[in-house]
Amino acid sequence: MAFRDLRDYLAFLSRRGELKRVRLPVSRELEITEIADRVVKRGGPALLFENVEGFSVPVAINLFGSEARTAAALGVERLDELGERIAKYMGLAQGPLPGSLLDKFKVLGQLAELASFAPKVIDNPPCQEMVLEQPSLASFPVLKCWPQDGGHFITLPLVVTRDPVTGQRNVGMYRLQVFDERTTGMHWHLHKGGAAHYRRSEAEARRLSVAVALGADPATIYAGSAPLPPGLDEFLFAGLLRREKVELARCRTVDLEVPARSEIVLEGYVDPLERRVEGPFGDHTGYYSPADEYPVFHLTCVTQRHEPVYPATIVGRPVMEDYYLGKATERLFLPIIRFVLPEIVDIAMPAEGVFHNLVVVSIRKEYPGQPHKVMHGLWGLMLLALSKTIVVVDADVNVHDPSEVAWRVLNNVEPRRDLVHAEGPLDALDHSSPQAHFGGKLGIDATRKGPADGHPRAWPEDIVMAPEIVALVDRKWPELGL
Ligand SMILES: Cc1cc2nc3c(=O)[nH]c(=O)nc-3n(C[C@H](O)[C@H](O)[C@H](O)COP(=O)(O)O)c2cc1C
Repeated sequence: MAFRDLRDYLAFLSRRGELKRVRLPVSRELEITEIADRVVKRGGPALLFENVEGFSVPVAINLFGSEARTAAALGVERLDELGERIAKYMGLAQGPLPGSLLDKFKVLGQLAELASFAPKVIDNPPCQEMVLEQPSLASFPVLKCWPQDGGHFITLPLVVTRDPVTGQRNVGMYRLQVFDERTTGMHWHLHKGGAAHYRRSEAEARRLSVAVALGADPATIYAGSAPLPPGLDEFLFAGLLRREKVELARCRTVDLEVPARSEIVLEGYVDPLERRVEGPFGDHTGYYSPADEYPVFHLTCVTQRHEPVYPATIVGRPVMEDYYLGKATERLFLPIIRFVLPEIVDIAMPAEGVFHNLVVVSIRKEYPGQPHKVMHGLWGLMLLALSKTIVVVDADVNVHDPSEVAWRVLNNVEPRRDLVHAEGPLDALDHSSPQAHFGGKLGIDATRKGPADGHPRAWPEDIVMAPEIVALVDRKWPELGL
């Protein structure tokens, strides 16, 4: 059964002993971050701060703070099950149907609709139990996360917009810095769906309507962070993950829909050409991202449930909660990536690489240059285009074991031959490049080489014990008393 909403999920976590209610008074200024950071780093429970100084609304945090919890949030035992299910759907799309990845995504959407996972607008949605006559953010305990942050940031929002040209909906997770009771920053990066909608609305000198949903069911929250291509609706995708359609509410002041059981909904707009300095913000990379100009979100209406829960997350030096959301994406998208690069066996984005800095990929290598093909293929694929470093290893290497990957790379790589330098778009959070959004990339071919690769020397064998000796020692092991 899918979680109906955030409350249902919190009740589930509580039953599993994975929700800790904090009744001691705490401040939203840095203190919640310090507590949550310690808890995340030791793989601790989700937290519900019930007594935030100056506020009656509680803060829920660390909702996705481990791989097992994220899997549970998405209704599976193992995150890989999600990818397997999506692959099955997309596999159905193979055969006589057109072969591009976008076509397959389209068919995935159609199949989801056929399976009646399409979102549905309902009447009297819970998220509109209360409509604030004078829209204001003042009652919500929005966090100031880190000492040098430019202010208080809404960190776990679902930002809903519609493409002004095609009408296609986008849902993205983009932070919002609270400027005052009625305005916030709108921090969608250049490469993201919301930013693309905004560029189109600016080109037409039109205001872009925006709705922000806080505290939907966990699969829908996750879907906002998933790098889906335009054309695949995040709410439909969430329905596919939950195996149950997402119920939507029609917003009251903008022509948009939001999850009907959201805790809090902010409705409003961004105006063309209006910018305001946003940040700095202690970011996913573990560094502050600098203050920069971003569009401004103006509030026209706030709706909420009775006694709402305010959901938040903190990002910072890894490992943080966002790593597990990224892990879900890694496992979910592996089979999709294989449609384009079938030689890929497995893929890992280690926490230290913060998604865009490092992708480790194992491949079944069959011809010279194939690792290069895989690197360039990934650099051309959806948001993986922003990857800074790609390491390619052989099929038998466990990409999830950093020690094994480092051992293979350091032994196998001949720097004059195996390093591929390229350039292209970089994530907005990259601070190493002299130019924002563009810079160098590194591919590392750590596969074993043979004559076909122009390597004339014999490649050494891995040291592996003879199986009969392993079996013998296994039998003797208890008697050895070691
Ligand atoms: C906790 C969290 C916060 C995020 N904050 C931002 C942000 O402020 N700006 C941004 O562009 N992406 C942010 N992201 C990444 C986007 O949510 C992600 O790239 C998503 O795919 C965007 O949706 P889109 O592909 O529809 O644009 C964040 C992700 C997480 C997990």
